[in-house]
Amino acid sequence: MDGIRKPGPTVIVIFGGSGDLSWRKLVPALYNLYLAKWIPENFAVLGLGRKNLSEADFRSHLHEGVDLFSRSGKAAKADWDKFAKCIHYLKGDLNETSTYAHIDKQIKVLSKDWKGEVNRVFYMAVAPEFIEEISTKIGEAGLTKDRKLSRIVIEKPFGRDLESAIHLDEILGRIFEERQIFRIDHFLGKETVQNILAFRFANALFEPLWNRNYIDHVQITVSEQLGVEKRGAYYEASGALRDMIQNHLLQLLCLIAMEPPVSFDGDEVRNRKVDVLHALRKIKPDEVSRYAVRGQYGSGWIEGNKVIGYRDEQDVAKDSNTETFAAIKFFIDNWRWQDVPFYLRTGKRMNDSASLISIQFKPVPHQSFQNETISNLQPNRLVMNIQPEMGIRLQFQAKRPGLKMALAPVEMQFDYNETYHTGTPEAYEILLLDVMLGDPGLFMRADQVEAAWSILMPIIKVWEENPSISFPNYAAGTQGPEEAEALIAKYGHNWMNMPLDKK
Ligand code: BG6
Repeated sequence: MDGIRKPGPTVIVIFGGSGDLSWRKLVPALYNLYLAKWIPENFAVLGLGRKNLSEADFRSHLHEGVDLFSRSGKAAKADWDKFAKCIHYLKGDLNETSTYAHIDKQIKVLSKDWKGEVNRVFYMAVAPEFIEEISTKIGEAGLTKDRKLSRIVIEKPFGRDLESAIHLDEILGRIFEERQIFRIDHFLGKETVQNILAFRFANALFEPLWNRNYIDHVQITVSEQLGVEKRGAYYEASGALRDMIQNHLLQLLCLIAMEPPVSFDGDEVRNRKVDVLHALRKIKPDEVSRYAVRGQYGSGWIEGNKVIGYRDEQDVAKDSNTETFAAIKFFIDNWRWQDVPFYLRTGKRMNDSASLISIQFKPVPHQSFQNETISNLQPNRLVMNIQPEMGIRLQFQAKRPGLKMALAPVEMQFDYNETYHTGTPEAYEILLLDVMLGDPGLFMRADQVEAAWSILMPIIKVWEENPSISFPNYAAGTQGPEEAEALIAKYGHNWMNMPLDKK
């Protein structure tokens, strides 16, 4: 992300403007960018929806969203009133050609008195099945004629398998150049995720150890206490593999495993990440059960509250075969990582909400200490906490105070909240700013998305063709199915316990 440039005049057209994503994420993020003075002077949001809303209704709905979800808390009246003037609403049917002519007209009206070139951002905050239709109509209406200034933003999941992703890329490729397409993976905008690059490539200390000679294995966990909430219909067609692993977790894996980039310019980082995806060992269909575990939550208890099982959630089939938990063991076939397991797991309705990456180092080659001295020995471990804890911990052994030589694990810790008191921008703030600046570095390129799908396709196919006979196989409020423990125990490893022993 460019820290100095400010975007030029911009109109953001949000398809699905009256929907949940605008309400919870997009508009609160834009409002915070506005407070931080990153929003250009000449700026407008044009929300598009089917609902019959007046501009005042639309603004007050978004105001409520900002009050509820903005990281800066409730909006001060003067600030909101000023910002709200940039927000406009257009009722329209996405299937109608005339809607797109209206959008064009509205953009022209809104930017009539603006000086300089105007960025046009088309944000697809709609269900994936509408993207093809909308982008085709955008193209036909000539809304993106200026390739330098117009961009399309697409939420994940991009397609629902390799074939549909390739198809969507083909359609988009007829209308846009690749540099105009911003495929969002919001994890890439998280401060702690961007910090992985800083940690790895701005320090000389760890890079020499960052390989198969010193690292025993890597664990990436994204565990959520939340269930599927009101997203049952979406989630039924998705599941944990498509919703989380194909994008967020594989992107984290790439950041941990990639080679050092020559620079942070242009496509360099994306090239290094896609190299990792290409080096991931393909899991053959008959190996899926050895490398991957699926789970679905039944009813259970979360923090003292009884919660229902997945099959009883709204819009979920009573015999659903959708996985709400997935754990996969990957290997990366290259010089740096040969034979180092990368364990990925994610699940809904787990006992803790935490996203973290644990890098476990190999034991010392020779143990000089006597057995009784090291009864509590733990491996060196570097834990990168993505959320809600934000920081990095390094675990090592130290001598316990006393007359005897006895060792115990201790930690060195970097905590964002203790070190900085400035507040951390939300992922969407960072990403929306990059869209306005036309900087696609933190977004997914077509080849990355396709490589990620291609890795997962054997698992997706085997799981779809062979419905689980054991679902539900974990109770809400636990660490997932027992098979996930077995997956990693086979190689003498253990998942990090959740909740983490927070100091
Ligand atoms: C989204 C998934 O991409 O990420 C959700 O669709 C998930 O199912 C969410 O809950 C997690 O993101 P965050 O930023 O809330 O951890």
